[in-house]
Amino acid sequence: MSSPPKDQRKRVTLTKLAEMRALGEPIVMITAYDHPSALVVEEAGADVVLVGDSAANNVLGYPDTVPITVEELLMLTRAVRRGLKTPLLVGDLPFGSYEASDAQAIETAHRFVKEAGCDAVKLEGGGASAERARAIVRAGVPVMGHIGLTPQTATMLGGYRAQGRTAARAKQVFDDALALQEAGCFAIVFEAIPAEVTNAIMPHLEIPVIGIGAGPSTDGQVLVLHDLLAIHDGFQPKFAKRFAAVKAEMLRGVEAYAHEVRTRQFPAPENSYGIAPEELDRFRDSIAAEEHHSRR
Ligand code: KIV
Repeated sequence: MSSPPKDQRKRVTLTKLAEMRALGEPIVMITAYDHPSALVVEEAGADVVLVGDSAANNVLGYPDTVPITVEELLMLTRAVRRGLKTPLLVGDLPFGSYEASDAQAIETAHRFVKEAGCDAVKLEGGGASAERARAIVRAGVPVMGHIGLTPQTATMLGGYRAQGRTAARAKQVFDDALALQEAGCFAIVFEAIPAEVTNAIMPHLEIPVIGIGAGPSTDGQVLVLHDLLAIHDGFQPKFAKRFAAVKAEMLRGVEAYAHEVRTRQFPAPENSYGIAPEELDRFRDSIAAEEHHSRR
């Protein structure tokens, strides 16, 4: 199903997402990090945009998501906000910005709403994170949960690998999902979970589940723009399907530019500005007069 014509799109709300879930309309969520990307995902009709902490490795050159700071994410999130009209904008609470206490979690969530214009925030994990989620919701900010593979704590999970692959670990995913729902989350991201485990959990949840590597039965899907467009050619997990080859096209363009500069084909007359002939004559005369004067 395609999205409605641009002029008929209404701002996506939490109610709208719940309705989409009830009607079985798939929710399209995209992670994006800058203003031009926001304009593209707006035009393409995304329902939810996340400014993910995956910006750490995808645009800021960090090895993983752990080092990115609140300030860095706020700056990127503000740029995305300026490019969006319709989708729900979710800010990602980075590692170390919400775990210490409810007060810390609320303060960080409020910054994402007040300083970056977010409609909601996302945090990773069940357990204590469900309690942080509850505190943030009570403080007036909608929260999206995120369970399964949670990159901020990947070391504790044994690395970047699918989660819930034993009965006990699948039960943990199930319990975390219920805890986040009970804490008041409006939606949950399921990352890297066997499709059959997702299928078994879905009937027990009442809020939208957005999958990434969690099979087809979730209420929506999320991919990172840089992965789905192949803006980089680093490692991509198997769930990160490439729908375009933008890095190859970027490389082709930059190499063509370098070639034209080196062979003096660029800039061509159509890339240059002109000046009226009489002004040019006057200018040349003034230079000549100055030179003549300085030689005397
Ligand atoms: O940071 C991110 O992009 C995410 C999505 C993959 C859900 O957390």
